[in-house]
Amino acid sequence: MNQAKRPSSNKVKIAILGMGNCASSLIQGIHFYGNAEQEDIIGLMHREIGGYKPGDIEVVAAFDVDARKVGKDVAKAIFAEPNCTKVFCPNIPALGVIVKMGQVLDGFSDHMKNYEDKNTFVLSEEAQPDKDEVVQVLHDSGAEILVNYLPVGSEKATRFYAECALEAGLGFINNIPVFIASDPKWADRFQDKNLPLIGDDIKSQLGATIVHRTLTDLFKKRGVKLENTYQLNTGGNTDFLNMLNRHRLASKKTSKTEAVQSVMAKRLDAENIHVGPSDHVPWQKDNKVCFIRMEGKLFGDVAMNLEMRLSVEDSPNSAGVAIDTIRCTKLALDRGLGGVLIPPSSYFCKHPPQQFTDDEAYNMTEAFINGTDLEGGELRRQDGDAVEEILPLKPVVKVRADSKNTNC
Ligand SMILES: NC(=O)c1ccc[n+]([C@@H]2O[C@H](COP(=O)([O-])OP(=O)(O)OC[C@H]3O[C@@H](n4cnc5c(N)ncnc54)[C@H](O)[C@@H]3O)[C@@H](O)[C@H]2O)c1
Repeated sequence: MNQAKRPSSNKVKIAILGMGNCASSLIQGIHFYGNAEQEDIIGLMHREIGGYKPGDIEVVAAFDVDARKVGKDVAKAIFAEPNCTKVFCPNIPALGVIVKMGQVLDGFSDHMKNYEDKNTFVLSEEAQPDKDEVVQVLHDSGAEILVNYLPVGSEKATRFYAECALEAGLGFINNIPVFIASDPKWADRFQDKNLPLIGDDIKSQLGATIVHRTLTDLFKKRGVKLENTYQLNTGGNTDFLNMLNRHRLASKKTSKTEAVQSVMAKRLDAENIHVGPSDHVPWQKDNKVCFIRMEGKLFGDVAMNLEMRLSVEDSPNSAGVAIDTIRCTKLALDRGLGGVLIPPSSYFCKHPPQQFTDDEAYNMTEAFINGTDLEGGELRRQDGDAVEEILPLKPVVKVRADSKNTNC
């Protein structure tokens, strides 16, 4: 099926791959925030992007392979086991969108069979669709953007669905550490079809990556020599359970390590940096705990070290970022832009095609959203010159501790 230019609408129609904890938080968030007007709304980086509010995002298609999710309305599937993330918006009306069986490929790791059903994936016995059938579903649903939330290590499955997105003429947001946006071959294919692409591996709102990067940048700016660092993470959700299979972890480790290395004054030797998911602790459920240690040298070659512990609910922590990536992709569709969207990929993802400091990426993203980059499309270029287009810093995140959201 050839990519046809879709009419712009005031809704942002998305299809989702993988109705796990992240999809649950995203869909709860869409309803939680709705079309709220408050300036000081808690927890969002942007109340509006290009006139789109979170409530303008509409899920029109969804795929999963778990028996407890396939065949259910999306509003029910997101609360089915083994999902275990915090429910902050329980009353979501049926969406009238039934979760379809997906193609399993490498989405399901064999070791997942060794755990209790409530903690692991249970494969559905429904017939798996072929590529044409997935493309047809995407096309018939009116989806404009395909959002990837498959398990880490779903290399073949991600490529299969990215292929479907290309064929059905959808933008693609790759939230997982399989390299699509950062693989020039895939980036070119989306560019050739003039379809927007954001990726890879979503960076949480205030998670281990952004904190580790910010501290690393601080060491650099304050002239502290960083000599050794680790970032250890534990959690009890299926994302962490899936990552117990170390064979699936290669790209996750690259993505997370590179996110930190790329902001160092001087890259550390591999033996001096360890960044990665570390263990599955079932009772933690969707609570992720991160331990960071940084050892360095201050003035006079005097040693120092820093220990930090961060505790967050994993999935809502990335859902607000997803809400922004979706609206940035819609903005690109409205503006007729295709290929990798460098500014939002750099700000919102751990492994974009090009790394910038978070300040640079932030400014580029604000410029992209405000449309100030459109002259000559400078910010879409994949070479280093794009940095020169950065605008001065300006605060746009306004949060007040006492503000309330009343949708849920
Ligand atoms: N803060 C975050 O939560 C965060 C940050 C960065 C990246 N991610 C990544 O996002 C992805 C999703 O995370 P999650 O916590 O929602 O995981 P999850 O384990 O809760 O959900 C994955 C879902 O994918 C489904 N699935 C498996 N194979 C499939 C296939 N072939 N087709 C369709 N569906 C399939 C599973 O049944 C499950 O419902 C993971 O790769 C994770 O590493 C999450």
